[in-house]
This record gives sequence, structure tokens and C-alpha cells, in this order.
Amino acid sequence: MQPSAIPSHDRLIVALDLPDVERAQAMITRLGDAVTFYKIGYQLAYAGGLSLVGRLNDAGKKVFVDLKLHDIGNTVARGVESLNALGATFLTVHAYPQTMKAAIEARGQSSLKILAVTVLTSYDDGDLKAAGYRLPVSELVEERARQAHALGVDGLVCSPEEASALRKLVGAGMSLVTPGIRPAGLDAGDQKRIMTPARAIAAGADYLVVGRPVIEAAEPKAAAEAIQAEIAHAALNQQGERQ
Ligand code: C5P
Repeated sequence: MQPSAIPSHDRLIVALDLPDVERAQAMITRLGDAVTFYKIGYQLAYAGGLSLVGRLNDAGKKVFVDLKLHDIGNTVARGVESLNALGATFLTVHAYPQTMKAAIEARGQSSLKILAVTVLTSYDDGDLKAAGYRLPVSELVEERARQAHALGVDGLVCSPEEASALRKLVGAGMSLVTPGIRPAGLDAGDQKRIMTPARAIAAGADYLVVGRPVIEAAEPKAAAEAIQAEIAHAALNQQGERQ
């Protein structure tokens, strides 16, 4: 996707990594119009959080369902159909060819976009070897990115450090969605490979996933607004450079 075609406000995706629907709803209310795109992952989804997908849609928001599906093709396809009926905008699957193919066929012409997770960012070469893979992380990421592109997958989840190399590999047509974002001066938490919002946009990320720097901020709305301003500024600079 051409970054300039995405409304700037939609490029920040706030991860609702919260234990229950009540706290998630309170955070959504608190963030108000500062955030238009939310991510629901394991923690909230398994605590009833998928009920928020329809509610958020009704409020004009978009939802990224981050369940990283991986199962036999038929099971993946049926799961994708159910999530599509809820009105999700993005859904993650692991970047196995069978899984990606099933998800893409099941989403059909709908507005649901399938994002592939190439290699989990917590894995290093030793973890891959222990899991029986012969390729190092960098080569497996590229191999799976190529396969995702060839299968018509809509986007990739990647670390901001991988964004510029993946952009060259897959071209402008795929969305790059990057977690591991930390505004300058903030604690990295357990994220090892981090970038500021501005640097991630400059590296070619289309969407930035941000959790704790917003939801654990003393003033979440102000924190989200500051990131939105940084994204908008970086996007303008990027457009300026292209002209
Ligand atoms: O709190 P923080 O900003 O680190 O949250 C990042 C979000 O992105 C979390 O919901 C996490 O599960 C998700 N994520 C990640 N790294 C990946 C894929 C997803 O941090 N490779």
C-alpha cells in the first residue's frame, strides 16, 4: 500500500493488551478521537474481547485481530470466515504457505486484510535451529515474505528494523505493520529491537502497533496524540522527499 494513501490517523494501531472488556472499553472511551485503529490480541480476545469488534466498527473504528492463526487449511478458512463476519479489518496468520493460501481464499473479495507473521521477533537463529529449521532468521523472514507476496497476502508484521529491506523485497503493494515502537526516552520493556515512530515511518512502515507506551501512560490520550503528531510529521517529510 502507498503510505500516502492511508489516512495519517489510521497509521497508529493501539494494542488493547488489557485483561477484560470493561477495562478495554474504558481505555477506548478515554482515548476518544485520538485513536481510530485498535488491536485485539490473545489476552483480550480470550476474555470476551472479540465482542468489541462490532462495537468498535459501529463507532467508526477499525480493528486488527491479532490471533496469529495456524492450523489445517480448512480450519483456518472457517476461522477467517467467522472473523470476517465480525467486521475485523486486519487478521494475522503465521506465514506458512498452506495457512496463508487458506486465509486469502477465505477472505475472498471482502475488506478483511490478511497479515502474515514471518518469524516471531522473539526468535533468534538458535531458537529456529532448536525448532528444526535450517535457515537463519534473516533468510527465513525473506523466504516467507516472498511466499506471502506470491500468494497475494495483504501485508506483513515485521520489526521496524526489517521494514526497509522487506519494502524493497515485496514492493509498495503490501502493508508493513510494525510493533516494537517506542517514543524517544521511553522504557523499551521486553522489546529488544525498537524504533521511534518517526524512524519507523521513514523506514517504510505503513502502520505502527503501540501498546504500553499508550495504555500504561499516565495520560493515555496525550500519549496517543503525541505519537499521532510524530507520525503525521514523519509522513509529510517522507512525501516531501518523494516530490
Ligand atoms: O506494549 P508494546 O508496544 O510492546 O505492544 C506491542 C504489541 O505488538 C503487543 O500486542 C504484542 O503482542 C504485539 N507484537 C509484538 N511483536 C510481534 C508481533 C506482535 O510486539 N512480533
